[in-house]
Amino acid sequence: MAGGLGLKELTNGGSAPNVTLPSLSGPIEAAIRSRRSVRAFRPQMVDPTLLEHLIAGAGWAPSPHNAQPWRFVVVTTDGSKRDLAEAMGERFRADLLADGLSEASVTARVRASVERLTRTPALIIVCMVEDGLDAYPDVMRRVAERTMAMQSIGAAVQNLLLVADSLGLGACWLCAPLFCPETVSETLALDSAWEPQALVLVGYPSKRPAVAQRKPSASLTVYR
Ligand SMILES: Cc1cc2nc3c(=O)[nH]c(=O)nc-3n(C[C@H](O)[C@H](O)[C@H](O)COP(=O)(O)O)c2cc1C
Repeated sequence: MAGGLGLKELTNGGSAPNVTLPSLSGPIEAAIRSRRSVRAFRPQMVDPTLLEHLIAGAGWAPSPHNAQPWRFVVVTTDGSKRDLAEAMGERFRADLLADGLSEASVTARVRASVERLTRTPALIIVCMVEDGLDAYPDVMRRVAERTMAMQSIGAAVQNLLLVADSLGLGACWLCAPLFCPETVSETLALDSAWEPQALVLVGYPSKRPAVAQRKPSASLTVYR
């Protein structure tokens, strides 16, 4: 990487836990550290060309066998956003009522959820497909193969978030489709092979997100 640090420098050969890292001032580290989840947006639409850039960036993520098992659904019209938000809201309502929450609190949470989706200029549903994955006769390897594909979806979403940030857009990864994949598929009339995995809110930020904290990497790492 131009201007970056060699792996050997960073890891001190891969064995010493107490190495003092040089300051991380390269553009990639800066981009990674400055990205925040943005949940409040100005009402203006996002230029479709910028949305294409987000999706193209997502597609440069690594994936098993370069299968690129991601697909994207861009939802920007008021009608489609409302249909999706309300259908997902109904599912959310049923789950919250089953959890034993009061009617008033369920209504407030569902309304907030619907408003969040309908007020966001663009929604990108990230789906997974099995197309291109290796086929195995045994369950263990089939599960591993699907896990790989899902892991690569995470990498694709991270790329998408980073490109959004670099273009002055805000974005936030929502897990909601995992709780109601059939609802998302039916409402958006998706191909049955597309499995909704994530919903990304995209728009121009209206509020600067709070400074985020991270656990020190030394507390998360063991060296052997
Ligand atoms: C798999 C995944 C699911 C997430 N789901 C939600 C969500 O449903 N709602 C939400 O507001 N944020 C969600 N987030 C965003 C996280 O809350 C956020 O990344 C975390 O608090 C760290 O903040 P930062 O992104 O600003 O660094 C999700 C993030 C990931 C990776």
